[in-house]
Amino acid sequence: MTAQEIRLAYINFFKDRGHHPIARARLVPENDPSTLFTGSGMQPLLPYLLGEEHPEGSRLVDSQTCLRAQDIEEVGDNRHTTFFEMLGNWSLGDYFKSEQINWFFEFITKVVGLDPDRIYVTVYSGDESLGIEKDNDSELIWRKIFDDLGVSSKTVDIGSEENGYKVGEQEGRIFYYKDKNWWCRAGSAENMPVGEPGGPDTEMFYLYPSVQHNKSYGEHCHPNCDCGRYIELGNSVFMEYQKTDSGFSKLPKQNVDYGGGLERIAAASLDNSDVFRISLLWPIIAKLEEISGKKYDQYTNDMRIIADHLRGAVFLSVDGIAPSNKEQGYVMRRLIRRAVRFAFALGVEQNFLQDIVPVISDLYAPDFPEVNSNKEKVLEVLLKEEKVFRQTLRKGVRELKKMSDIGSITGKDIFTLYDTYGFPMELSLEEAQTQNYPINNDWKADFNNQMAEQRNRSQTASKGTFKGGLGGHTLQHKKYHTATHLMYQALRDVLGKHVIQHGSNITEERLRFDFSHPEKMTAEQIKQVEDIVNGQIEKDLVVTFEEHPTKEALEDLHVLGAFGDRYGEIVKIYRMQAKDSELPFSLEICGGPHVEHTGQLAEAGKKFKIIKEESSSSGIRRIKAVLS
Ligand code: ALA
Repeated sequence: MTAQEIRLAYINFFKDRGHHPIARARLVPENDPSTLFTGSGMQPLLPYLLGEEHPEGSRLVDSQTCLRAQDIEEVGDNRHTTFFEMLGNWSLGDYFKSEQINWFFEFITKVVGLDPDRIYVTVYSGDESLGIEKDNDSELIWRKIFDDLGVSSKTVDIGSEENGYKVGEQEGRIFYYKDKNWWCRAGSAENMPVGEPGGPDTEMFYLYPSVQHNKSYGEHCHPNCDCGRYIELGNSVFMEYQKTDSGFSKLPKQNVDYGGGLERIAAASLDNSDVFRISLLWPIIAKLEEISGKKYDQYTNDMRIIADHLRGAVFLSVDGIAPSNKEQGYVMRRLIRRAVRFAFALGVEQNFLQDIVPVISDLYAPDFPEVNSNKEKVLEVLLKEEKVFRQTLRKGVRELKKMSDIGSITGKDIFTLYDTYGFPMELSLEEAQTQNYPINNDWKADFNNQMAEQRNRSQTASKGTFKGGLGGHTLQHKKYHTATHLMYQALRDVLGKHVIQHGSNITEERLRFDFSHPEKMTAEQIKQVEDIVNGQIEKDLVVTFEEHPTKEALEDLHVLGAFGDRYGEIVKIYRMQAKDSELPFSLEICGGPHVEHTGQLAEAGKKFKIIKEESSSSGIRRIKAVLS
């Protein structure tokens, strides 16, 4: 079956069993500030899993487009993609374990036609410290399924992943694991915030016997080993718990949240563990082969990355995102630029998105009307980014040639290209190799030194910016720094997410702040911003900071930053949060310094007040504000 046929057959299978099909949610979650992207099918359904009535009833089915930006660097093997479709069926307090396990097994073996003898499953071993029992019910349901087919159904207690590598498969069919079979958005039961739902799950794996276990993962293979012999096809979460202050309570209803990887199921149906061979990805690779004159077998890694990244970027564009230096736009920019960079490595040095993007749109247009209606816009947006980035690349190639005319290429040269022209290090090396430019032996150490120095410089620079260049650490300075964060967030709340910081300058008398916004603020908006800031001062938010790798901060943590991708490797993130609140009011990258709690801004009855709002340059507004 093609992937498209599997998607349709899955929806129909569950429709026949009383499920209502629902449309996918956008890749950018609505009303969920805790994450940049929709990363699983359950995310948009959270309120209903928590007990709210769904207008379409208690049985739902869909295929949810997902994006996991944290997997960007993993792409290149045969199964990781940043973008994927998660098939989902839900019981909102309706059916439970028996129906779910039997139906999915029936679908995967009878409809898709997978070999039952190659299916292995895992179940939850329980956790005494959480007071949650072993999932015997699921084990018994699976046992009966395998026994009825005459397939061995031996149960093995593995416990932890670590133990799995020690004890191996032991000819088991059903495997008990602890943490691996507890599902919640936070990753583990310990990390769940109060109110978050979760539960035991049972996961289904497909065995590829021709894949040799790779001992670099561990001595023995087992279903949760990452060597690629076992590939997970789907996960049925029995979502019936909710985190409380002291442990767990039962949710009002027992839910089923099933999520299955469409791409992986389609690959299994081809009996090929390479997801890039399926009907939703192979045409992109075939086009790449045609354009580059290179073969997938020789350029596997590069072609996988290009295909994956562009597919993700197309869907982000369909969902209204444009490349930028912030948040979702930043991830989109990275996807496109990485794709262009890897294409460069294939020898594709001219614009190629005009040939690839239509292939991707055409793959999805018949099943997703929004892809169809946005075809032209999507191409325009992606091509524009490609053109800008290619100019950078061309400039880099020219500069490298000039450098090679002077002598052999040094680490400093490579760094200059990276720092000044945005020309990536790997490309300098590749280009030097292709052109036979000599490279200094110690280029690497030299390059690393330059990077470290730049990191210091940029940290100092970012501190400087926030200190307004005055080096001020007095209490008055700190108060205005803190007020600046509160105001930045308030401006975004009142005016919208297009508000981005362009500059900040602080003295002991006032703060000054430049930001993007197309028009003059109304008196009403100014008043709203003042009220929000004063409200947060009154709430006496606690001000703390954490240090994070920049990449994680910008991609996963959804923080505000002022300099796009120009940070050093580690950044400080300031958090301003009320004691009784689960979410911060403001989360922002900054060098500090700040007061310890926002109540300090109101000392001696002072209030935050905007005294001036004016144009600074085209599309940029400037505010001056005081505490008086
Ligand atoms: N919510 C479950 C997952 O994402 C199905 O794996």
